[in-house]
Amino acid sequence: MITKNSFGTTQNGENVDIYTIGNTTGMEVDVITYGATLNAIRTPDRDGNIGDVLVGFDDLEGHEQHSNYQGMTVGRYANRIANGRFTLDGVEYNLVKNEKGITCLHGGGELSHAVWSATIADDCRLEMSYTSPDGAMGFPGKVDFRVSFTVYEDNSLEIRYYAVSDKKTVINMTNHAYFNLACHGDILGHELMINADAFTPTDEHSIPTGEIRRVEGTPFDFRITKPIGRDIGAPDEQLRNCKGYDHNFCLNDSEGPAAVAYDPESGRVLELFTDMCGVQLYCGNFLNGSYSGKQGKPVIKHAGFCLETQFYPDTPNCPGFPQCTYEAGQPFESITVFRFSVRN
Ligand code: BGC
Repeated sequence: MITKNSFGTTQNGENVDIYTIGNTTGMEVDVITYGATLNAIRTPDRDGNIGDVLVGFDDLEGHEQHSNYQGMTVGRYANRIANGRFTLDGVEYNLVKNEKGITCLHGGGELSHAVWSATIADDCRLEMSYTSPDGAMGFPGKVDFRVSFTVYEDNSLEIRYYAVSDKKTVINMTNHAYFNLACHGDILGHELMINADAFTPTDEHSIPTGEIRRVEGTPFDFRITKPIGRDIGAPDEQLRNCKGYDHNFCLNDSEGPAAVAYDPESGRVLELFTDMCGVQLYCGNFLNGSYSGKQGKPVIKHAGFCLETQFYPDTPNCPGFPQCTYEAGQPFESITVFRFSVRN
């Protein structure tokens, strides 16, 4: 159920492959070796019509030149580190400040723009690996990263992350898929539930202030399903700073999905399960149609929503958050599942 084809050559002359993982019920997932990137997820709507629910690109050039991390694996440290700086055992590490020269965003993009090695592990699981050298983007330790993608018969996609360093370091891995369950337009009409009693408010650079704020009585209360667009424009300082939702939710430690999204038009449902403590809800607020994506269509504001499972942003500088420090040889391991279904 896994096929392999060429997906072209990077500007540096590296070959990139595309793998398609399918199940017998009609779901297919395309993964490319550039960035261990989810390139497409094709799932049926309530009438059985198959559609691609990922916002992204048809070709490698799009991923290389225009990407806002569409579908990419992100690390070493997904999300932001304030002032591109943190201290470990008294040693200060200065990282690449790839966001406005101020913050380190998504580990400087290293994992997302690397070409990964791929192995077909079995008929429904693809494994990818990449080794990041000691000091890459300023982080300590040579780290072996592994990501596997498994497609199950119940239309779920499981992503397993594994990383092990030869020195004490910080690790936070995620996938940056932008979902649009309608396969067109914007996602403001999608309904969303997030099982989180709290979120982490941010400053003007999208860095957490350290506060863990209860969602009750705020536009961040998604504990009862509501359309994403209902409160996104509310007169709230947090929403104004980020032009909408671009925040980490502190997931409740309870049974059931961490989040559920539903598109009333197509009937598609996406359930998210994870063992991580946080999830970044980002609604493509900074996309503006300035470049084209799949089928040459402009990638518009709110074209997709991301549910980036993660440690909280800037954890290395926030002692009050669940910590993301790993000793030499101590593996980082995490599982995230996206399960697709339909509702009538
Ligand atoms: C961040 C956004 C950013 C996007 C693309 C998200 O994880 O929270 O602020 O624009 O990634 O880089």
